Amino acid sequence: MKNSPISARIIGLGAYTPAKVLTNADFEKMVDTSDEWIMSRTGIKRRHVVGDSGEAASDLAIAAARDAIAAAHISPEEIDLILIGTVTGDMKTPSTAVIVQKALGAMNAAAMDINAACVGFLYGLTTAKAFIESGMYKTVLVVGVEVLTSITNYQDRTTCVLFGDGAGAAILRREDTANTGILSAYIAADGSHTQLLYVTAGGSRQKVTVENMNNGSTGIYMNGSEIYKFAVRNMEDAAKRVIADAGIKPEDIDLVIPHQANIRIIDSLAKRLHVPDEKLFVNIQEYGNTSSASIGIAMVEAQQQGRMKKGDLVLLLSFGGGLVWGAILFRM
Ligand code: ACO
Repeated sequence: MKNSPISARIIGLGAYTPAKVLTNADFEKMVDTSDEWIMSRTGIKRRHVVGDSGEAASDLAIAAARDAIAAAHISPEEIDLILIGTVTGDMKTPSTAVIVQKALGAMNAAAMDINAACVGFLYGLTTAKAFIESGMYKTVLVVGVEVLTSITNYQDRTTCVLFGDGAGAAILRREDTANTGILSAYIAADGSHTQLLYVTAGGSRQKVTVENMNNGSTGIYMNGSEIYKFAVRNMEDAAKRVIADAGIKPEDIDLVIPHQANIRIIDSLAKRLHVPDEKLFVNIQEYGNTSSASIGIAMVEAQQQGRMKKGDLVLLLSFGGGLVWGAILFRM
């Protein structure tokens, strides 16, 4: 349990997903797959994608951030730090965070991107908590945003059916009360598994060439079944750590929001943690895997559906390429 008299509290949430939708029937026309395979193996029915709308990661992030700022009843000038979890930023440089800063008019904020794959949002929330509890900053904007379709290989049926685009945002604010807001956070990494999920070309190791583009090296490679095993085990461990650290009873948790990557992973995790259906939030059927955006989007929907209310104890869990994983326990 934390001893700090300062808490980092989530005071506003926002989300944005593009209008265009790709259904399983659309994928049946693109690759050798079926609605039955996709539904039974992943739980995904639809995904929202930028398509040819011209939207980039910052456009999605700005829309989600504006909603979060409005919900928090603050002005953009009050934001001290902007953290953007993404692996699909607008450009290599500058960061997507500075593009968002300018668009929001958050000119008093420092700004940076965090690359932690699907755990980018939880890495961001944890970093925000640390900055707030240290006394350095009062108000932090955290966004998880991905345009995964920009690095999806649409010839690879084992990955292309999984991914969607979107953004989720949260405003965190310092509160001078102990034991509220984020009660406990745990983020972890194991770089000995980099071979399980990567994009080969486009970095300093391998440049983008016509050959790389044609052979799929600019798209995501993923060993899904190996990641699957790590995902359940590591999220279970992370959950137990934050529950023990916060000194709460597991049954006191009102809602569990896991990263929306695969319904079978979510179900196995819920079984291991003894989470009943009514305490588990799932929206993978509508969005697919939106990587670092998935938890923020789910939080907004949970709030809109009355499933995440003020005072509720909420557990967030995620895992992703790296491998990286983490958990956050907070009082809404
Ligand atoms: N349609 C039809 N058949 C398919 C498809 C498809 N879209 N994709 C794969 N198959 C086939 C395979 O070719 C294989 O056929 P074979 O037995 O003849 O070789 C068979 O289905 C089984 O393939 P598996 O890969 O073993 O299927 P699995 O049950 O593991 O499901 C999946 C694959 C959905 C990818 C799963 O492993 C998974 O979700 N893993 C976790 C991935 C994940 O969540 N990653 C998170 C990080 S993502 C990020 O960071 C951006």
